[in-house]
Amino acid sequence: MKNVGFRFRNPTFFYICSHEQQNHNIMKYELIKLPYEANALEPVISKETLGFHHGKHLNAYVNNLNGLIEGTKYEEMPLEEIVKTADGGVFNNAGQILNHNLYFTQFRAPKADNKPTGVIAQWIDQQFSSFEAFKEEFTKKGATLFGSGWVWLSVDKDGKLQITQETNAGNPVQRGFRPLLTFDVWEHAYYIDYQNRRPDHLNALWQIINWDVVNERL
Ligand SMILES: [Fe+2]
Repeated sequence: MKNVGFRFRNPTFFYICSHEQQNHNIMKYELIKLPYEANALEPVISKETLGFHHGKHLNAYVNNLNGLIEGTKYEEMPLEEIVKTADGGVFNNAGQILNHNLYFTQFRAPKADNKPTGVIAQWIDQQFSSFEAFKEEFTKKGATLFGSGWVWLSVDKDGKLQITQETNAGNPVQRGFRPLLTFDVWEHAYYIDYQNRRPDHLNALWQIINWDVVNERL
């Protein structure tokens, strides 16, 4: 296994965008392994949703990207660089891999009164006045994003926290930001469990955020 790709400052996160070195020297992306059991996020995200979302949707993006980059300049390019520079199908599939890898690795089992801790808690209080105010703005931006996409918390080039809406496969690395936290608002992320009630799904996600992971991404 050769680790290349998204360059978080914390080396424990290198694995999320790893390539596998094949015998014939072709680099292949792999489906990430979830850092929890398939039913660990219930009732916020069901085992069934997780099975489709990770095992079918993300797996398809991985297979698509491996097929599209074979024999191209993207073949040995880190994932983040592909997202910053590619367009069309290569961008769509690479963006969705980067987005989902960040999404799936930021969760843990539901916890009552789950709140930010450490440095990210201080930054949120300083820049959004309170966690409640931040949560309201973030959830609203997810609920009002038209169509498919993602809402993100990132750090911009000046070290300021930013909440952005990115449509389809968009990722804040395209703006030069460092992504910290994301909610997937594609219907495949919630339709089995919540049908059309996207705001209910987004409000429930706060129970399963692993703030230790968000702090490691700072
Ligand atoms: Fe998704």
